Amino acid sequence: NMHVQIVKDPAAGGVAGFKVFQQALAAGAKVFGLATGSTPISIYDQLTASDLDFSQLTSINLDEYVGLGSDHPQSYRYFMQHHLFNAKPFAHSYVPDGLNTDADTETKRYESIIAANPIDLQLLGLGRNGHVGFNEPGTAPQSTTHKVALTPSTIAANARFFDNADEVPRYAYSMGIGTILKAKQILIVAYGAEKAAAVAAMLQGPVTADVPASFLQTHPNVTVILDEQAASQLK
Ligand code: F6R
Repeated sequence: NMHVQIVKDPAAGGVAGFKVFQQALAAGAKVFGLATGSTPISIYDQLTASDLDFSQLTSINLDEYVGLGSDHPQSYRYFMQHHLFNAKPFAHSYVPDGLNTDADTETKRYESIIAANPIDLQLLGLGRNGHVGFNEPGTAPQSTTHKVALTPSTIAANARFFDNADEVPRYAYSMGIGTILKAKQILIVAYGAEKAAAVAAMLQGPVTADVPASFLQTHPNVTVILDEQAASQLK
């Protein structure tokens, strides 16, 4: 049950994604699962420019770097403040606490927040290798919120954002695939030719841990927004 919508470009994707949020709100959604990265920005721009009111609602983000606090410009909390929450505050906005070094406590705390606030609509971006959240290939479909060791290539790519090599995060907290699949509705968005292979594998390949996004095929209500380049390897 994956409804695919192909748009011209990320700006058009922002409008299409905004409509999915609008419809969910009209249907009574109270809890929104949110993502960071470049993909959601055009949707957040539309939400920011709209007259939608989130002040009685709850947001729950997918993931956060371990070791970074809300005032660190590379933290996902900081990203969310800047791209959405400053303009459109929610009653409660949860992001994993990167400064909690006790992974067991933090991941259990986060799962209990989600259990108490079941997610009505979860927004996702798609990694080039098919990851969702920080769930890299090999992650089990039943996984819950957990601490993830970042790959050497991710650590190296992030190094340019930090003054000091030892400040670069080595770990993240992320909702698991099982956590994500519990959302009532999922909206996954992908743009650009570099996502085309992952998009085809997600939608038309086997359901496999090699492509974490392929587990979305098992969910009853998924909307997929793609630009033409991201859709270019679909058969
Ligand atoms: C972000 C996240 C990641 C990104 C994915 C795509 O919270 O969990 O899975 O959604 O890496 O990133 P962009 O949108 O930058 O291509």
